[in-house]
Order: sequence, then structure tokens, then C-alpha cells
Amino acid sequence: MLKVKKHAENNYGESQTKERTLDKTNEPEFNSLLDLRNLSVYYGDHQAVKNVSMPIEKNKVTAFIGPSGCGKSTLLRTINRMNDQIPIAHYDGEINYDGVNILNKDIDVVALRKEIGMVFQEPNPFPKPIRKNITHALKFMGMAKSNMNEIVENSLKQAALWDEIKDRLGDSALSLSGGQQQRLCIARALALQPNVLLLDEPTSALDPISSAKVEDLVMELKQHYTIAIVTHNMEQAARISDNTAFLYNGDLIEFGNTSDLFTNPKEQRTEDYISGKFS
Ligand SMILES: Nc1ncnc2c1ncn2[C@@H]1O[C@H](COP(=O)(O)OP(=O)(O)OP(=O)(O)O)[C@@H](O)[C@H]1O
Ligand SMILES: [Mg+2]
Repeated sequence: MLKVKKHAENNYGESQTKERTLDKTNEPEFNSLLDLRNLSVYYGDHQAVKNVSMPIEKNKVTAFIGPSGCGKSTLLRTINRMNDQIPIAHYDGEINYDGVNILNKDIDVVALRKEIGMVFQEPNPFPKPIRKNITHALKFMGMAKSNMNEIVENSLKQAALWDEIKDRLGDSALSLSGGQQQRLCIARALALQPNVLLLDEPTSALDPISSAKVEDLVMELKQHYTIAIVTHNMEQAARISDNTAFLYNGDLIEFGNTSDLFTNPKEQRTEDYISGKFS
């Protein structure tokens, strides 16, 4: 977190490490770790995310739902600045993380991605041995070699994969099943000891048993991590998330406690979407 704060000045050179408690008056019921404020994301002239303001609560699971193309992945990628890699992408607004606007151009993006890890829809392990999948990122971050075995074991245990693969750490990660590969990708993110995990449809390529394992894992991990998850699966959102954001055509239509949003949506479009009237 310190590394991020080191560069935390806004575009006018003013310090942004202000007391977050001052900002809480607007959202007294949410204990947010991340605050999205008037976030807009564009690809060239096309606005994919429109003026979204919402909290992402600490040690909770926040689900992002909405039809294809509504901006879920764009929003998630913006939270760890993955969209910086897309030349035509640009954004307005703020994402405050522990009092720092992480959209600030001077943020140390490598340090940010260590704190805010991301796992994608398709499992994307490196074509290397299982163990190296985890140590590779650690070495890149300059982690001491003496800790490696412990971190490998702990992160695989946290990802509920250790028992299945502890005897084959030297095998290629590509020899694992899809569900195991996805848990390895989660372990790889956890090895960097992030605060936040961003999961973009992490179970959509998995069979029901593997999906259930990843769901159980998410429920377990929220004790220690703040999690944001994109899903097309309404049952999954209802099962595993505490808060839900419904996006439609780039707009945040509704945000709130998951059970309230699913049982008593305030907006007709939310009700239509969760009841399957459109997808
Ligand atoms: N790299 C890109 N360049 C240009 N436009 C993009 C890019 N990525 C996404 N878009 C556009 O931004 C909008 C939002 O896309 P996004 O991928 O965020 O949607 P999504 O809600 O994640 O959809 P899905 O459920 O299909 O994954 C879409 O109109 C899409 O075409
Ligand atoms: Mg997407």
C-alpha cells in the first residue's frame, strides 16, 4: 500500500492521502475499501462505463452483473489499470483506494497490481511447471528466495489446490484440468499477498464441480480479501456475493445488498434482468 501512496498526488500535485472518514457521510452503511466516484471509461469516442459511483466493501464479495457488453470487464480492468494497455482507452472520475485515487497518472501500476490482483475468464497459467507459475511473479517482485517454498505451499493451500497437486509441482501447469488451472491462477494472484481480488467470470469456462470449488474458495477467501466478481450466473451472484451492482449499457442501474437486490429490486430493469426477461 505504501508504494502506491508514495506517488499519490493528484494532477495538480496535491496530496490525496486525506482522511477517508470525512468521505463516509455519503455512504454511511458501507465499509468500503474502494470507492468508485463518477467513473467513466471510454474506448475512443465510445463510452463503455458511464459515471458510475459505488463502494466496494472491505472483506466482502461484490458481484457485477448485467448483459454482455454492458461494461463489467471494462470496469473491473480499470480497477487495476489493465485498460492502460489499450491505447484508445481513457477514463474520467476517481477510484479511491485507501484514500488514494488509483487512476492518478503517477501511480506505481506494478505495485498497484500486486495489491489488486486479477483473475480472468479463461485460465491462463504460464506454460511452465506448476511451482514456477507462482515463483515467477514473486521473483519479478524481488521476493527473497528463502521464502519461496513456504509461499508456494501457502498460496496453493489457500486456493484449495495443494492436496490435489502437492506431489507434482514440477509438472507443467498445462497438465492440470481447467478447474485446477483456474485455482492455480488464483493461487498465483494470492502469492503476491494482495488486498483485493478481481475475478472476471472465473467459473464460466469450468464444469459444475470445478465451479463449485471456486465458489467455495471465494466464500472462504473473503475473510482475508476484498473480492469483486463478474458473473453471468444469477444463482452464483445470489449465492456468493454480499453486494451486487447491476450494469446496463454502461450505466449503474442499481447497487445494494445482494439479498435486497434479488428479492426486492428497486428498478424495473433490474427485476427484468434477474428474472431472465433479457440477457
Ligand atoms: N479493447 C476494446 N476496444 C474497444 N472497445 C472495447 C474494448 N473492450 C471492450 N470494448 C467495448 O466496451 C463495451 C463494454 O465491453 P466489456 O467487455 O466491458 O463488456 P462486458 O459487460 O464485460 O461483456 P461480456 O459479458 O460479454 O464479457 C462493449 O461495447 C465493447 O465492445
Ligand atoms: Mg466481460
